[in-house]
Amino acid sequence: MKNKKIITIAIDSPAAAGAGTQAKLIAKNYNLFHLDTGKIYRYIGYLRLKQREKFTYKFIQDKINVLKLKNLKDKKLLTDETATSASIIAKDLKIRKIVHKFQQKCAYHPPKIYRGSVLDGRDIITIQVKDAMFKFFITANVKIRAKRRYEEYKKLKKKISYSDVLKSLKNRDKSDRERKHGPLIKTKDSILINTSKLSKKACFLKIKKIIDKKLKIDGNI
Ligand code: C5P
Repeated sequence: MKNKKIITIAIDSPAAAGAGTQAKLIAKNYNLFHLDTGKIYRYIGYLRLKQREKFTYKFIQDKINVLKLKNLKDKKLLTDETATSASIIAKDLKIRKIVHKFQQKCAYHPPKIYRGSVLDGRDIITIQVKDAMFKFFITANVKIRAKRRYEEYKKLKKKISYSDVLKSLKNRDKSDRERKHGPLIKTKDSILINTSKLSKKACFLKIKKIIDKKLKIDGNI
């Protein structure tokens, strides 16, 4: 499965820390394939909410077998209810194993037009892309994360209060950090980026500096 010639970037982070935004900027700048792995769990979490009577491992496997990236762009996946459902199904090892193959293919065999891949999620450094060329752990203060997510919901015209967003993020943090399978952990070999006091641009420049330095040393630039 491994493909040594491509650039691989792994990002782990708690919810709403800005990892998705940074991953998109990194992907664009270095021409990498980007997979927001949380969207796959949200997709399954959404199926659990809407098709509960059919919700079996076989049903999930069949859906993942035909999953297209465009399915992950659906706005329905952006609600707080779906995020909570995602964090519930994400505790299940069998479900994690079902999505593993899809993520591995994206990470190690991205479409040929790309120089490599950047994946963001909870278990990317710890499980999915353990040998990534770059490993970033992106985080921010929980109140700042809640404020950012609340603003996003407002733009999407979702009716939810700031205190409910904060409560939901805290619950998800706890569940994602304390679960048995694929918990969110910062590994020793990952670079900590705290986005609490940084603008999107400042954060990206910090990451870019780290990537450029290594790529230059390796003769990749
Ligand atoms: O990143 P996002 O907030 O969209 O993820 C939704 C949920 O999916 C997370 O709270 C987490 O429980 C789960 N997830 C996961 N492993 C990943 C990515 C997301 O368990 N790699």
